[in-house]
Amino acid sequence: MSSKDEKSHKARHLIGIDIGGTGIKGGIVDLKKGKLAGDRFRIPTPQPATPEAVADVVAEIVKELSTREGAPDADTPVGVTFPGIIQHGVVRSAANVDKSWLDLPIDSMLTERLGRPVEVINDADAAGLAEARYGAGEGVDGTVLVITLGTGIGSAFIFNGQLVPNAELGHLEVDGHDAETKASAVARERDGLSWQEYSVLLQRYLSHVEFLFSPELFIIGGGISKRADEYFPHLDLRTKIVTAELKNDAGIVGAALEVALHHKLAK
Ligand code: BGC
Repeated sequence: MSSKDEKSHKARHLIGIDIGGTGIKGGIVDLKKGKLAGDRFRIPTPQPATPEAVADVVAEIVKELSTREGAPDADTPVGVTFPGIIQHGVVRSAANVDKSWLDLPIDSMLTERLGRPVEVINDADAAGLAEARYGAGEGVDGTVLVITLGTGIGSAFIFNGQLVPNAELGHLEVDGHDAETKASAVARERDGLSWQEYSVLLQRYLSHVEFLFSPELFIIGGGISKRADEYFPHLDLRTKIVTAELKNDAGIVGAALEVALHHKLAK
């Protein structure tokens, strides 16, 4: 490869890390294709998931990815997701994570720990960005809502391909409850619900969101999007509903895309 080719090749490869409740996953993202270049690297989330313990794991993942052929240069920014509100690089909610994260300046903490610029984005927002650019929301005008069903309910609000950050639609109150405490994937398991029983709760939740926002499209992500055949047929919505296309990699890809956009490494 000529040095010019090598430079442009590196510019479109960035590291993305997805911090989740059970695992922390990372990969080198090819931003032209919106896919991982090489395998994903995963380490179980340390328990308790304190900022220090999580930062150590993030550093370990970045170190492993950096030894790979085609890895971005050591001073290249890294994108990271976090399962809470992130505003101006600060954690502003910690519904399903260790409470010591609250009000932590996560961007600067990880930047210092890794010795390279880090940009953190909400996990569902990252999945939304990735789906809007490379997945099920590509080319869709108007409002697209990406809803992730996992430990909690995450949401990304996309309008004409642009992310409106930190929409916390998993915390809408439905029938007197915080929606995610009844309609998340973990709530289904905890309450021992059949898919049909779960569909009733999901219907209640999604029809409320539909009424509030009249989206053009719902994109459902999170682990149980794989089982959509079990509950999509029971849903009755006027909005088109599809599963996320980037599956497990949406967070990693979205994290890398966010940092690329922020540092003007991508348009
Ligand atoms: C958090 C969101 C997050 C979602 C999925 C919710 O409890 O409030 O910020 O995106 O869980 O992890």
